[in-house]
Amino acid sequence: MTIFRTLLVGLGAMALGLSAHAAGGSKHAEAPEGGWSFAKVPAGQIDKESAQRGFQVYKEVCASCHGLKLLSYRNLGEKGGPFYDDAYPNANDNPLVKAIAAEDEILALEPDESGDPFYRPARPSDRFRSPYPNDQAARAANGGALPPDLSVITKARGHGAEGQGASYVYSLLSGYPDAEKIKSKKGDDGLNINYIEFDKGEVVGTLLQPTGQYYNPYMPGDVTAQWAGDPRHKPYGGFLAMAPQLPEGRVEYMDGTEATTEQMAYDVAQFLHWAGDPKQGQRKSLALPVLIYLLLLTILLWFSYKRIWRNVKH
Ligand code: HEC
Repeated sequence: MTIFRTLLVGLGAMALGLSAHAAGGSKHAEAPEGGWSFAKVPAGQIDKESAQRGFQVYKEVCASCHGLKLLSYRNLGEKGGPFYDDAYPNANDNPLVKAIAAEDEILALEPDESGDPFYRPARPSDRFRSPYPNDQAARAANGGALPPDLSVITKARGHGAEGQGASYVYSLLSGYPDAEKIKSKKGDDGLNINYIEFDKGEVVGTLLQPTGQYYNPYMPGDVTAQWAGDPRHKPYGGFLAMAPQLPEGRVEYMDGTEATTEQMAYDVAQFLHWAGDPKQGQRKSLALPVLIYLLLLTILLWFSYKRIWRNVKH
């Protein structure tokens, strides 16, 4: 009887714990349809065309706020990178990489003859240009919020599982509510208040969007303070200081791919996954040869074992 009661109490506590967990938190990041090519076992590689498009998205959209300070231009042209070319095994010689680097101007280490600091075109060996000279400048330009460096963002948000960080970036960027869902009304002080109505057949509540903050179901956070409505239907997710960045057609892809929101989010997430670990392609391309080698070695060892012990009774 006591055991039964203890069990019951335990189960009850578990159920409470689970429901408390379900009440907070953000929506689980979703992998794109078909998954990520690089997450295939044992030797999945990035989708090179997609990563090239993703670089275009990064450069034309994200680079004005987010740096990639752990990356050098030449990484783009190294084996496994989006612009690797067999004709240029040394990425420093790759003309495309040189041209990409030269489009950015970076502060030269040495001043010019008259002692003034000056900017020069970047070279493949340079680190990516940072959008702001320091964090204070970055915050000042973004209403107090700091746009994080994106070098290892897919690792930081990935919790170890392959592709999870990329899925987060993909979900976050394509997961903002549609623009027509955001409504506006005048507050008591005459200022505009933005809000979103949530309905499940009927309206179950409204979510106020604080100024300079944007609701996103995939952003970890808690919207309790801004939610007016049925507490059982409180929306997932939280607010972040980054407005939606990828409306349809935000970039014009050089390879003619249609630039839908999902496509751009997919491509830039692919690129950022690669950027988080530029050498992974090289490492993974070793996986299959190593497996074959180990297999052959096992067979060889098995036969020598048989041979060596052939006359020994056991
Ligand atoms: C106008 C500036 C701006 C642009 C352009 C921009 N972002 Fe952001 N981003 C921000 C700011 C500011 C934050 C910090 C938001 C916060 O902490 O509330 C942020 C946060 C993020 C985060 C982190 C979210 C988290 O989990 O903390 C990711 C990922 C991100 N941006 C990716 C991108 C990508 C990819 C692009 C290009 C498609 C991009 N951003 C374009 C300003 C920008």
